Amino acid sequence: MVKICCLGAGYVGGPTMAVIALKCPAIEVVVVDISVARIAAWNSDVLPIYEPGLDDVVKKCRGINLFFSSNTEKHISEADIIFVSVNTPTKTRGLGAGKAADLTYWESAARMIADVSKSDKIVVEKSTVPVKTAEAIEKILMHNSKGINFQILSNPEFLAEGTAIQDLFNPDRVLIGGRETPEGQKAIRTLKEVYANWVPEDRILTTNLWSAELSKLAANAFLAQRISSVNAISALCEATGADVAEVAYAVGKDTRIGPKFLNASVGFGGSCFQKDILNLVYICECNGLPEVAHYWKQVIKINDYQKTRFVNRVVSSMFNTVSGKKIAILGFAFKKDTGDTRETAAIDVCKGLLGDKASISIYDPQVTEDQIQRDLTMNKFDWDHPIHLQPMSPTAVKQVTVTWDAYEATRGAHGVCILTEWDEFKQLDYKKIYDNMQKPAFLFDGRNVVDPEKLREIGFIVYSIGKPL
Ligand code: NAD
Ligand code: UGA
Repeated sequence: MVKICCLGAGYVGGPTMAVIALKCPAIEVVVVDISVARIAAWNSDVLPIYEPGLDDVVKKCRGINLFFSSNTEKHISEADIIFVSVNTPTKTRGLGAGKAADLTYWESAARMIADVSKSDKIVVEKSTVPVKTAEAIEKILMHNSKGINFQILSNPEFLAEGTAIQDLFNPDRVLIGGRETPEGQKAIRTLKEVYANWVPEDRILTTNLWSAELSKLAANAFLAQRISSVNAISALCEATGADVAEVAYAVGKDTRIGPKFLNASVGFGGSCFQKDILNLVYICECNGLPEVAHYWKQVIKINDYQKTRFVNRVVSSMFNTVSGKKIAILGFAFKKDTGDTRETAAIDVCKGLLGDKASISIYDPQVTEDQIQRDLTMNKFDWDHPIHLQPMSPTAVKQVTVTWDAYEATRGAHGVCILTEWDEFKQLDYKKIYDNMQKPAFLFDGRNVVDPEKLREIGFIVYSIGKPL
């Protein structure tokens, strides 16, 4: 039986390994993590992450060929293939602060593998890493190898949160990069056999190590660029009377452009787009390519601009002040169908409104009050000026309440901001919401989920991204 061990039981490690276990009954998969609490949650009835379909997959194989454990050393030493799916956040201090990837967790994982391995291993980079990371990892592993043969592969993950299980069941492609030596090619074939259990062969792409590493950063940069492009156009739509949904539809009908990922929004969030683009920017700068770095940086600048523009719109529409006014926030997660709030646009919007002394009342179907309070008290890391941390004053956070009901959140509010595109926000009884709000009642739709005309008929003053006022 082939044995797989995965280091890192997070949003990627957990779902990815659960699907490998489901699709490959002949493989034993063990997921380990330095967080004992996270492992305990994976072994419980309440999994540590919310992801549609995940519970089912885990229930079908946990205890059969899928295990979650804190015994890292044992499972590394027994494994044939080791996936490393640890976090790779942006460095917040030291060389490259604000842009470069922090590889501390990766390095300690590699050192652990080198220390405890007693037989040959294939080590798979599942985390998103800077191009050329495999070279550094090879050095750490080989330096301590005691004659063991380590083959490093790059197998970046392309799943999106909220659709992780369907993305893993039916990926557009699986990418495997390896050394061009006979041993490297053999390792590629071994990993390919794992995926071939359910992924058609023509969707399994093999490349050299550096192409695979760079493709992941490039793919995220292209995706984020589409959102910044449509968001930039949304500002122009508002200024001219064009409708961004109509423009995006017309543009996306060109088969060379395609219709997906052109939804204008309050700004993209999530743990990866900003981090990976900053990482790309840093690599370009280090390779003497400042123009290329500058080009990609604009994608993030437009995203920051979009969030600021939204806050300014709220404040300016409400007679230039939200001081003492109640603003209801519908949706705090960075997108629907997840409880993840990492880099969510809601953090910046709430902080902007609190900065203008608003009282905010937040409802999100999957995000807990603790998480929201943590997010809003955390110092904001300013990627462009990493030295400046913007602390949140304790008084500001007292202006935040969190509820488990959209009607409760909006009762008595002067304005409502929709910040996540949860399906249930389309079905709300907006007449009831309107009746219970202060007048004039404002609604700012940061996701274009409501029909502005219908809401105007009810009596709301409506602002939607990129739509005529
Ligand atoms: P995460 O923070 O949810 O999970 C990472 C886990 O690794 C944590 O539980 C942490 O405790 C654990 N860890 C850290 N060091 C460890 C060590 N030495 N040994 C064992 N466990 C260790 O992060 P994530 O969202 O799963 O992302 C992981 C990587 O995958 C990142 O590089 C990210 O860029 C990439 N990625 C993420 C997504 C996504 O949708 N979240 C998608 C594609 C790629
Ligand atoms: C993204 C990529 O889609 C994945 O392929 C990649 O594996 C992953 O990053 C990663 O490397 O972490 P994810 O961040 O989970 O996945 O979710 P997306 O669906 O890409 O959404 C990202 C953000 O963009 C969300 O805030 C979403 O609301 C926003 N978005 C997305 C828009 O504003 N408009 C769109 O048209 C699409």
